[in-house]
Amino acid sequence: MIDRRAALTGLSAAILSSCTGEAATTDAAPLKSFLTAPLGVAAMTAEFADPQWQALTATHFDRLTPEWEMKMEYILQSDGSHRFEAPDRLLRQAKLNRQGIFGHALVWYAQDGAYFQNLRSDKARFEAAYRAYVQAVVGRYTGQVDGWDVVNEPILDDGSGLRNCLWRDVLGDYYIDIAYHAAHGADPACPLVLNDYNLEHTPAKRRQFLKLVDDMQKRGVPLHVLGTQTHISAALEPGALKATLRDLAATGLKIHVSEVDVSLKEAAKNAFDFKSYRAQQIRQIEELAEAWLSLPVAQQYGITIWGLRDKDSWYNRSQKGLLADEPLLFDDTGALKPLGQAFVKALR
Ligand code: XIL
Repeated sequence: MIDRRAALTGLSAAILSSCTGEAATTDAAPLKSFLTAPLGVAAMTAEFADPQWQALTATHFDRLTPEWEMKMEYILQSDGSHRFEAPDRLLRQAKLNRQGIFGHALVWYAQDGAYFQNLRSDKARFEAAYRAYVQAVVGRYTGQVDGWDVVNEPILDDGSGLRNCLWRDVLGDYYIDIAYHAAHGADPACPLVLNDYNLEHTPAKRRQFLKLVDDMQKRGVPLHVLGTQTHISAALEPGALKATLRDLAATGLKIHVSEVDVSLKEAAKNAFDFKSYRAQQIRQIEELAEAWLSLPVAQQYGITIWGLRDKDSWYNRSQKGLLADEPLLFDDTGALKPLGQAFVKALR
């Protein structure tokens, strides 16, 4: 299982290292042409300055997910005001290339800035501000995004229940419903997503996630898509991806495979020997493609890859010179890796 704390502290690390690069040189057909549903990629405005990034993402992907700049940590300032400069740029960039934007993420346990911390002793004001935040952000982009991750990562890692966070501390479990109703009110046609990770690595977490989904559906909460991040290890047990997509699809909701990367470093337990894990990495991406194809087309919301080239991966940004991981479909020169080729072949 991935060490998330290490990766998450890379945070606004976000801000990329240097991006040089020549024009795209891949003779392969666009990756997006192998799926009927949209194929997305994580994006940050810092990457726009890189011509190779520009060319490859425009060619191969239908949709951008802002990796960081639509999150509360970027948008919400400590005085309660909002900053929309980067999300607006991401939207303009996507329009230019006729791509969609996937909104990520409105409410996340990992981000609960000073503004909300300061309101925690006043439940009524806190709740009003919470609704207002969701309404303001969704409202600003009404009709312009393909969907929103409304609540991100609500389930505890061991699957024993809901995660504690500021939102739950102040508002109770109902924090989830409030956010979905507020988002739906602001953009009634927008697909609303519940997104979480390790649903394949930890079956107990998947069960708890599905219980939450069932409860939300019974309560009539507007929820349309399930997001399974799919930050996986190459050593994930064979069959786990298929079981996960099958279980999620049994809800009847659409499925977003929302943040795909397949870590070699995790599989090798940080050892310097990736060799023996490359074949397993390929088998994972093949299984993902097969599991995807076995979903009813009407439930295929899309697949999103968490970065373009290995050097763009969030794992590598937080590495500080240690061994780089190789979790993505393109290598650092911009060529489609054997992993990417296997994905395409399995999707055919
Ligand atoms: C990560 C980004 O990749 C990093 O750049 C950022 O600093 C921290 O967040 N689950 C999610 C994503 O839903 O938003 C996280 O993205 C990765 C884990």
